[in-house]
Amino acid sequence: MKLTFSTSGIDKAPKGYIRVRLTQEPKAVRRSMRENGIEWLEIGVGKANEMNNRQFITLCRAIVNTAKANKTKKIAIQFDATPALFDNLENRTPSQLSQIAAENFEMANFEFRTFKTKPKEGWVEVEEILLCGKSDAAVIAAAKRGQAIGQAVNACRELANTPGGDMTPRKLAAEAKKAATGLPVTVKTFGRAELQKLSMGALLGVAKGSSEEPTFTVMEYKGGKGAPIVLAGKGITFDSGGLNLKHSDHIYEMHMDMSGAAAVIHSVALAARLKLKKNVIGLLPAAENMPGNNAVRPGDVLVSLSGKTIEVTDTDAEGRLILADAITYAKRFKPSVVLDVATLTGAAMSALGLFASGLLTRDDALAEELLARGEESGDYFWRLPLWDEYEKGTESDFADLANYPTDKSFRYGGATNGGIFLWQFAKELDCPWAHLDIAPRMTAAPGDELAKGAAGTPVRLLLSFIESWKA
Ligand code: BES
Ligand code: MN
Ligand code: ZN
Repeated sequence: MKLTFSTSGIDKAPKGYIRVRLTQEPKAVRRSMRENGIEWLEIGVGKANEMNNRQFITLCRAIVNTAKANKTKKIAIQFDATPALFDNLENRTPSQLSQIAAENFEMANFEFRTFKTKPKEGWVEVEEILLCGKSDAAVIAAAKRGQAIGQAVNACRELANTPGGDMTPRKLAAEAKKAATGLPVTVKTFGRAELQKLSMGALLGVAKGSSEEPTFTVMEYKGGKGAPIVLAGKGITFDSGGLNLKHSDHIYEMHMDMSGAAAVIHSVALAARLKLKKNVIGLLPAAENMPGNNAVRPGDVLVSLSGKTIEVTDTDAEGRLILADAITYAKRFKPSVVLDVATLTGAAMSALGLFASGLLTRDDALAEELLARGEESGDYFWRLPLWDEYEKGTESDFADLANYPTDKSFRYGGATNGGIFLWQFAKELDCPWAHLDIAPRMTAAPGDELAKGAAGTPVRLLLSFIESWKA
């Protein structure tokens, strides 16, 4: 999408641009009208004095969606024609608002159409937005940046939406390489033989039931001095549940179980594209979780990279297994912080609903930082406990750990159970660690003003975190 700036008022918008007017009517109001031969789209924003950062994000998306609903390709808008809109947004600078607008214009314009035949009249999408009124070099630069961020979010959604048959671990690794093309990011991928040599027994165990080879990909961006930020993304390219096969209600969207990996791929690439002066490493353990002839069985014991043995008490708790090896692998980079990103538990959805991802960490300063960056960026998080009391749930009768509690009293609080299992590996790190359970935000939710399918979380948060984290 093209973003153009014009310092003249919207009344000077050239022919061919449909003008957008924001009114204080209820948010459901969206109408197209003609006034003295000029076409307008009117959008209700609700009471201007109730505007806030969250509503501004959805407003920007609603603008694009209203244009699309009217098959309008070019629109003109003048935000400063409605100054009251910004009374409550005083804590955001014009540049920050410009970035947010651009990010969300891009996000609202995206649809997953790779497997759809193009209609004769072409796709319905907005080609250009003309931003009228006051602007300066900083505001324009911020919009460019916002566009790059929005495009990275969309690239992540494209990967996550791709069906499991077309997005195997090997293909996911190739996508990491592709995302890094032309950028100072090195990408290397280990296949089964190298994983065996490395002793990544947990990742190899999950992959056993599939004919698709597991991979472990390392992306490295060196943009500055200081200890690196390590991001590890869950890359289960399809989660059937394995021998603990999922019910048909729960299996459908499981090609998106590599959403964490997709977000990490495009966050590392974006950090490089925006030339952030930081060192960032992306770790992508990838496997397909299938109930094949050779599949890992409930009761099998895996030897993880850390040396800790894990009894697989439920083959559907596979995300924590592959991430355990990734977290152990992170140690060799002497990181300043490690974040793992994963569609880890349905229980996080039960706990939080669809509007916040789960944040689990023992580091209060890191939690505060992530919650603040999340609120600001639009990737919202809410903290869940990771207390000692829960650790008993990771005990096994026959191995060092169990991936799913055998004691029924520990089966509640599934999101914490996942986090506390990962903590058994993360506690060996010499730096803060946080687990981001993005299952609740894997797909777009009602009111998001986003197309159906993958939501692209938490690329915006990760970018903002990478920028602000002091190594
Ligand atoms: N990938 C799923 C979690 C998930 C569910 C993500 C729904 C997004 C939407 C994960 O591997 C899983 O199967 N989790 C189990 C954990 C259980 C077996 C301990 C779950 O949530 O039921
Ligand atoms: Mn699973
Ligand atoms: Zn899974």
